[in-house]
Amino acid sequence: MKTKRNYAVAIDGPAGAGKSTVARRVARDLGFLYVDTGAIYRTVGYHMDFYGIGPRDTDGVNRLLPDVNISLEYVDGVQRMLLNGRDVTDEIRTPEMSAIASAISAQPAVRAYLLELQRDMARRHSVVMDGRDIGTVVLPGADVKIFLTAAPEVRARRRFDELRAKGESVTYEQVLRDLNQRDHQDQTRKIAPLRPARDAVEVDTTGLDIDQVAAAIEALVKERLGSL
Ligand code: DC
Repeated sequence: MKTKRNYAVAIDGPAGAGKSTVARRVARDLGFLYVDTGAIYRTVGYHMDFYGIGPRDTDGVNRLLPDVNISLEYVDGVQRMLLNGRDVTDEIRTPEMSAIASAISAQPAVRAYLLELQRDMARRHSVVMDGRDIGTVVLPGADVKIFLTAAPEVRARRRFDELRAKGESVTYEQVLRDLNQRDHQDQTRKIAPLRPARDAVEVDTTGLDIDQVAAAIEALVKERLGSL
C-alpha cells in the first residue's frame, strides 16, 4: 500500500511581513498543521527571563537550557505553547519578549536545541511552518518556500495596529525602531541568519491583503504538488 508522505510549506521573512496570518490561513485551507516557530524562541526567552537570565548571557542560557521542556498543543486549531507543562501562549506576545526572543535566537545552543523539535513536527504532519530559517536550515527540502517581505513602514504599521488593539501603549516610532533593530539582529547573526533560501519565491505583501497573499501561495502549492 502506498503511504501518503507529509508535505511542507516554509514561510520565512522579517517581523510584521504578515507571516503568521498568512501561514495560518494557508494551513487551514490546505488542511496542514500551522507551526509558528517564533513562538518557540519566545518561550525559551520567557523561561530565561523568568529566572533572571539575560538573552546574551551565554553561560546562563546554556546552563538552564536542559530545563526547558517545550511542547506545542493545538486547541481549536490554535497553537498553544506549553513550557514545562504551563501554558505561556499569551505571556510571550509582548514587545519585550520579541526583543528577548530575537537576542536569544542568536545563541547557537538554543538553535541546536530547537532544531529537532521543529523537524519532528514536520516529520509527523504536513505543515505550513513560519520563521526565519525554515527554508534555509530547518526544512531545506520543503516542497514550497516563500520569503514574505514588505516595506519596514508597512510592517511597523501592522505591528503597531496589532499592539494597540491589544491595549499596549506604544508609539508608531517606537515600533518601527524596535522592528528595524530586530531585523538587523536577525539578519546579521552568525548562525541561520534571516535570508531567503536560494529556491524561495519572494512575495512582497506591500499593498496586498491577506486574501491575495494566501491565494498566491496556494496557487504555488498547487502548481508544485498538484491537487492534494
Ligand atoms: O516570528 P516572531 O516575531 O515571533 O519571532 C521572534 C524571534 O525569534 C525573531 O526575532 C527571531 C527568532 N526566530 C528565529 O530566530 N528563527 C525562527 N525560525 C523563528 C524566530
